[in-house]
Amino acid sequence: MIQTNAHPENAGPETRRDFLYYATGGAAAVATGAAIWPLIDSMNPSADVSALSVAQVDLEGVEPGSRITLKWKGKPVFIDHRPEARIAQARADDEATLIDPELDAERVQKAEWLIVVGVCTHLGCIPLGQGSGDPTGEYGGWFCPCHGSHYDTSGRIRKGPAPRNLDVPPYEFVTSTLVKIG
Ligand code: FES
Repeated sequence: MIQTNAHPENAGPETRRDFLYYATGGAAAVATGAAIWPLIDSMNPSADVSALSVAQVDLEGVEPGSRITLKWKGKPVFIDHRPEARIAQARADDEATLIDPELDAERVQKAEWLIVVGVCTHLGCIPLGQGSGDPTGEYGGWFCPCHGSHYDTSGRIRKGPAPRNLDVPPYEFVTSTLVKIG
């Protein structure tokens, strides 16, 4: 049974969200199944989460505007099916003064799919924004309530103490909808 521990500053129902998990073990593995972890307190992943080197997910059926989370190497990976407006916002924000300058186009392989490691680059909390009704911060991406970091629709840090954008993991699209992380 996988468990996670709520961050002490954020224990409460607002930190609970659905956690959709698809993963495979081994570099040559193919997607073998999926499970849904309902209502997991997930401000910090626990040490007993298995560290799978490869995770695969078929994104067919993930509607524009939806976000899903999968686990890779014991970390959450956020996948955002960005609708046009969210892509346009990210591209417009390329012109903003950025803490960690990076173009949106440098952070995505396909504009409609943003894939980032869901770990705040400040002290490692898991930002909010994946669950419906979660706060997404002042820039429409994710919000880390631990110390108030705001990420934009490209996962770039825009405000708060986090020093870097959310990391983009290594990934590839095996087919038009099947993505392999790791
Ligand atoms: S850990 Fe996210 S703001 Fe400090």
